[in-house]
Formats: sequence, C-alpha cells, structure tokens
Amino acid sequence: MSSIAMETDSNSQQALFEIADRVLPGAGLGSYSLARDIRLIYSHGKGSRMWDVDGKEYIDYVGGAGALILGHSHPSVVEASKAQFDRGSHMFGSLNDAAIHLAERLVQDIPCAEKIAYATTGSEATAYAMRLARAFTGRDKILKFEGAYHGNHDYAIVSTFPQQTGDYPQGKADSYGQPQATVSTMLVCPYNDLETLRKVVAEHHADIAAIIAEAVQRIIPADPEFLQGIRQICDEYDILFVLDEVVTGFRLGYGGAQQWYDVKPDLSTHGKVIGGGGPLSCIAGRAEVIGLSDPNLKGQAGYSYMNGTLHGNPVAAAATMALLDELSKPGVYERMNGFATDLCRESQKILEQHAIPAITQHTGSLWQILFMAKTPRNQADMLASDQEAMRRLDTLLMKQGQYVLPGVRRFVSTVHTAEDLEDSLRGLDIACREFNQA
Ligand SMILES: Cc1ncc(COP(=O)(O)O)c(C=O)c1O
Repeated sequence: MSSIAMETDSNSQQALFEIADRVLPGAGLGSYSLARDIRLIYSHGKGSRMWDVDGKEYIDYVGGAGALILGHSHPSVVEASKAQFDRGSHMFGSLNDAAIHLAERLVQDIPCAEKIAYATTGSEATAYAMRLARAFTGRDKILKFEGAYHGNHDYAIVSTFPQQTGDYPQGKADSYGQPQATVSTMLVCPYNDLETLRKVVAEHHADIAAIIAEAVQRIIPADPEFLQGIRQICDEYDILFVLDEVVTGFRLGYGGAQQWYDVKPDLSTHGKVIGGGGPLSCIAGRAEVIGLSDPNLKGQAGYSYMNGTLHGNPVAAAATMALLDELSKPGVYERMNGFATDLCRESQKILEQHAIPAITQHTGSLWQILFMAKTPRNQADMLASDQEAMRRLDTLLMKQGQYVLPGVRRFVSTVHTAEDLEDSLRGLDIACREFNQA
C-alpha cells in the first residue's frame, strides 16, 4: 500500500472512530455522543456547509453551537486571525492593543455595558457574573430558571435537565460530583411565571444576589413582560439582573436580546458569537459591579477575583473585531432572520402535508422542530412534548445531510443561501416520508 493510501486510511472515519472509542469517554466531546448510524467526524467547513472526513456534505445548522454566525472560515475572520497570529498569538499579564480596541467597541455596542471584563468561555462569564453579584450585594444565593443552561460549572448545572418539574425553589443537581452546599445556594423558579417568581423572591430576597435568565431559554421565548417583570422585581429588592446573552448577544440582532426585548440588565454575559469561533467571552454591565474585579483592589473588601490565561487573547479579539464589522453591515440581520422565517414557514407546510404533529419554532435565527401543538412557555411544556419523535425526525434529517443534533435547538447563519433552503426543504420532505413509514 502506498504511503498516501495508508495516510488516507488512518484518517478514515472508521479508523478515527476506533481511536475515539478507545481514548475519549463515549467517543464524544462534552455531553454529545451521536448514535452510531449518524455519528460523523468533522473534516472542514466553508460558509454554511461542512464535510466529514469521508467526504459527506452537510448543511450546517449547529453552527458551532451558535458561535459561527458568519458560517465556517469567513474570509474576514480568517484574514484577521492570520494577521494577528503573524504578529503573535498570545501574551499574559499585560494589555494588548487588539483586546483594548475590542473592549472599547463592546462597551459602545452592548446596550448595558459601561465596562466589560474578558473571560474565555460562556461558562466562565456566567460564573464570574454570579461571583461579582455576590461580592456587590454581600448575599450568597442566585435565582435561575428551570431548564435554563448557563454553562458547565457547579452553580450552573442545577435544574437544567430535570425530568420532573416543580418543588420550587429547590434546585436539583444535574451531575454527580456537584457539592450539595453549592446546589443549595441556587434557587429555581419556572420560566415565564412572574407570580411564582414574586412569591419566591418575597420570601428569600435577603439572601438573593442575582436573578440570571436567558431571553430565549433554549428555544422558549421569554414573554416580553417576563423580562420587564424580572427587572422590576430586581429593582424592588436591590437584586442584580444578569441577562445571559451567551447565545442571544449579537445574534437576535446587533444589540442582542437587550435590544430585541428593550430591557436593561445590570450585567450581561456574552460568548459564542463574540470570539469569532475562538476563545473569548465577556461580562458587560454596570461599572461599579464589573469594577470589583479591578486587580488594584486585591486584598480590599469587595474585590472579586477574575483571571484566566487566555483572557483578552489577541487572536480571538482580532477575529471578533472583523466579525463585528461584518455584522454591522446593513441588512445582515434582516437577511439571516428572514432565512429562518422562510425556512420555518415552508417547513411547517411540509410537516402539515405529511400530517406530522409538530411545529417549527423560531425567534430570530434560533429555530427547532418541536413535537407539540404551540409555542412552549417553560420546561414542563418541553417535557410534555414528544421528545422521542423529535429525535427520530432529527436523526432522519441528519441522514439527509443536515447537521442538526437530535433534540437540540439550531441556528441559521448569515451565509445560508437560497440553495440551502431548497435542499433543506427537499431533505425534510424525504425525512417526513421516512418518519411516517417507520
Ligand atoms: C445561554 C448559555 N449560557 C452559557 C453557556 C456556556 O457557554 P460555553 O459552552 O462557552 O461555556 C451556553 C452554552 O451553550 C449557553 O447557551
């Protein structure tokens, strides 16, 4: 066998799976491990499409979990990243020009931002926001909503994937290994339910540092009065409102959910889109709160520790600057959100033609096919839906060359095309036929 053939073989999907099965837990990355008949190994991507190592092509609707708003390998992002790599990729302990210019831009462009502090991932950003809120208020507890995902840390994975709802405001640990003492500092309420929230806060306000919420919780849109209600309750009891914009920031529109819903949180957390696919996130908001992480305050009352090897990484900062330039161009969000509207409207027609009892749910460029009758309002609605059917249809879509993680919310990017729309609808039609034949 020639050395080229050997090289190709050792990088074939089958050969790579054999290694992955041996050395990675569940042959997966993080909490995703796809069933054997649909699992794939990513080779490369361009625009809205990606390919596995065996050459199969997919229309990508996972979009790096929302990070790839400009699709794969956008020329401006690639060019800015390469240019910064050429100048140097990393340093620590002092400032760099790319991080300063980006910070100035983020303060200007994120509606609630008087200052920003850098972190590396969305999880880090929410963990720091919670710590800042505790430092600022002198209180220990954080209130979150059932079914909300705020990252992977011990304070975040509380009542995120409950199989049963209720027992408020008691939080349920989502993972073995979480200290019960940590879980006990989290209070949990049902989403879009101001009445329960008011009752819980009235009872526990003396201990609550912050309420953290997503504006679109997974795929569930907030009632506009829900976010305004959180704002009012926080004002009434001097609690900080942390809006987790890791998904929605620069995604729903350039001003994120704060602009979409016209609400002003004390802090907002950002990741995914910012970073341009690289390691960068931030906490934005009131200067007096973010300022508690000022390193000159070390050793003084109120100082809230924040530090990370990659904070303000210049390559990710340069990539983000290029990405924000692209997102600032006229008509970008209208086109992207318009694609999602067209895709969902036409998909709904196909579902109905096949008498499949599902809806296409979308807010801006976030979308999903759900087996329920109407827009969900909380985790109980999600649990009451037919999740097995949802995963089965998504699995058939994967086989039709659409990269969608079964049962997971998906994203349209700015570079999805009319051809993608046509191919997606054709694929859905076939998947629906197969769904009904099974
Ligand atoms: C709303 C929200 N917050 C926080 C996070 C955590 O971000 P990361 O995965 O970058 O740590 C996520 C990730 O999906 C998220 O959706």
